[in-house]
Amino acid sequence: MARAIYETRGIVQAADSVFWIGACDREADKFEGLWDLPHGMAYNSYLIKAEKTVLIDTVKSAYMDDFFLRLNQILGGLPLDYAVINHVEPDHSGALELLRRLYPDVKLVGSAKTADMLKNFYGVDGGFVTVKEGESLDLGGRRLSFVMAPMVHWPESMASYDETNGILFSNDIFGGFGATEGGIFDDEADLSTVETEMMRYYVSIVGRFSKQAVKVLEKVRKLDVSMICPSHGPIWRRSPERAIGLYEKWSRQETEEGVVVVYGSMYGNTKSASDAIARSLSLEGISPVRVYDAARSNMSFITTDIWKYRGLVLSCCTYNMEAFPPIAALLRMLENKNMTGRFIGLCGTYSWAPAALKEMKAFVEKSEGGWKLVDPTIEIKSRPSRDDIEACEQLGKNMAKAIRG
Ligand code: FEO
Repeated sequence: MARAIYETRGIVQAADSVFWIGACDREADKFEGLWDLPHGMAYNSYLIKAEKTVLIDTVKSAYMDDFFLRLNQILGGLPLDYAVINHVEPDHSGALELLRRLYPDVKLVGSAKTADMLKNFYGVDGGFVTVKEGESLDLGGRRLSFVMAPMVHWPESMASYDETNGILFSNDIFGGFGATEGGIFDDEADLSTVETEMMRYYVSIVGRFSKQAVKVLEKVRKLDVSMICPSHGPIWRRSPERAIGLYEKWSRQETEEGVVVVYGSMYGNTKSASDAIARSLSLEGISPVRVYDAARSNMSFITTDIWKYRGLVLSCCTYNMEAFPPIAALLRMLENKNMTGRFIGLCGTYSWAPAALKEMKAFVEKSEGGWKLVDPTIEIKSRPSRDDIEACEQLGKNMAKAIRG
């Protein structure tokens, strides 16, 4: 009966004395102002109601109203003893300022870097408990310990672990894009969509910091995890092992057979070159071949497929004596993500000032072997000739051979 009453306000009991009081955002069209949200976004917050009461993270400020109603209802007049700040980014700390006004005696808990950030973001000075790797809080018959996760993906990031029940409150780690669609748990959700959006989130948010993610995942492997409660995406109660395995694969940059073809084209000539390359790849039996128009696809979809597959072909026109801006932005993003172990083919076009191919070649050289160049590199003047199309077909054949090793 108690559980039914809780659920009337959107509260979900996740485990013994653990309640989900998160928010579903279906209004935002971009996350971090950059990444498309076709399925919305979830900001998960949890309350542990043990002898001590502990809030794990908050929600984005736009969703405070429901959050405080739920928190107040579960507490039922009890004080809030602690609020653990696993990560200060405002999608999780957005309700903190008001929380401190409503619960002035609450002690904030976080890493040493968290204290500094909270001062800058919210003027927090005092009432803070600094925790280090492996230290724990006694909640009365239940212990909450802390796993530092520096640079996954901010310097202050950490996770909290309910030692008694094996529940890992992992914040961004194991998170994904997408609001909950009725299913709060992994066994209730459409896992195909969940995992697709989880990978796009990983690549967009965590990808650059994969080396640091590998180290955190090694620490997670040493814990006896029965449930993962992340701050985005579903709660993993049936198969936390699945979530850990996916993050391990992505953080190690393990790739699959497949090629992404991305083009930047003004009048269709560069596009026709990339179509010839894609057709050649397909005739070689490569599947999937993913073709993107860089000017019309949110970069998160492109970079996620590039992260996933072993081959990439870029076709880029020259614009104002530089590489076409959407491709230039993609090159910069790929460099930012420190991607390694993939093959790349290049096709540049121009009419009066060749620049695109030169910029793309410079990107490959700068990677110092992270990207392995597949011949031939192609440069087309104005409109692809028969010879140019044959070169594109040859690039497709060579790329197919390269990614198959
Ligand atoms: Fe979900 Fe890095 O904030």
